[in-house]
Amino acid sequence: MTIISPSLLSCDFSRLAEQMKEFNESGAEWLHYDVMDGHFAPNLTFGTDILKGIRKMTDAVLDVHLMVTDPTYYADLFVKAGAQFVTFHTEAIDVEKGLALVRLLHEKGVKAGVTLCPATPVEALLPYLPEVDMVLVMSVVPGFGGQSFMADQLEKVRYYDQYRKEHDLHYLIQIDGGINEETGKLSKEAGCDVFVAGSHVFKNPKGMKHGVESLR
Ligand code: DX5
Ligand code: ZN
Repeated sequence: MTIISPSLLSCDFSRLAEQMKEFNESGAEWLHYDVMDGHFAPNLTFGTDILKGIRKMTDAVLDVHLMVTDPTYYADLFVKAGAQFVTFHTEAIDVEKGLALVRLLHEKGVKAGVTLCPATPVEALLPYLPEVDMVLVMSVVPGFGGQSFMADQLEKVRYYDQYRKEHDLHYLIQIDGGINEETGKLSKEAGCDVFVAGSHVFKNPKGMKHGVESLR
C-alpha cells in the first residue's frame, strides 16, 4: 500500500485556497496536519478552526499529527473539527492514559496512531501495537518542515514491519520528515505505507501533482 499525505505545514498561507485547490488535483489521498503547541515542539502551528475550514476545502483523509504536551485534551477538539486519524506522541503521555486515548478515539469512530521522536527507543511503542491503526516513525526531530531525513530511523520501520508480520497485526507504518523521491524509496523498501511530505509536495518547483507522482 502507498498513501501520500502532504503536510500542510509547508503550504504558502498567503494563498491557502489556491494551494488547497492544487492539493485536491494532486492525487494525494491524505492531508497531514501538524499541530504544535509551542511546548512539546519549539513551534506553534494551527488549531481547530483552521482544520474546520480545511475540511470544507477537501475530501482527503485528514491525518492529524499532535505534537502537544496534552494529547488527550487536544485529540477530542480535533476529532470534533473533522480529524479522521489522530496520532499522538508516546513521550507526551504514560502508557495507561495513551491506551485510554486510543480506545476513546476508536469509540468515536476515529483511527488512532502513535509516534515517537528520533531519540526515543523503538520499544516505547510496543504496548500500543496490538491496538493502533498506525505507527508513525519520525525521520526528523519534530518542529519544522524542510529538515534532512535521518536514515538511521529506518531501523525502526523495519522493526515495526517485522513485528506486525510476526504478530498478524495490520497497523499502517507512516514516515514523516525529509521525504523526497530518494528517501521515500528507501522508506518503502523498509516497509512504510504512508508517506508524509511537506516541502517535496507543497514547495515543489514543478507543482504539487509532480511532487505526489514522483513519490509514488
Ligand atoms: C515535522 C512535521 C512534518 C513536516 C515534514 O515536525 O511533523 O510533518 O511538515 O516536512 P518535510 O517533508 O518538509 O520534512
Ligand atoms: Zn507531521
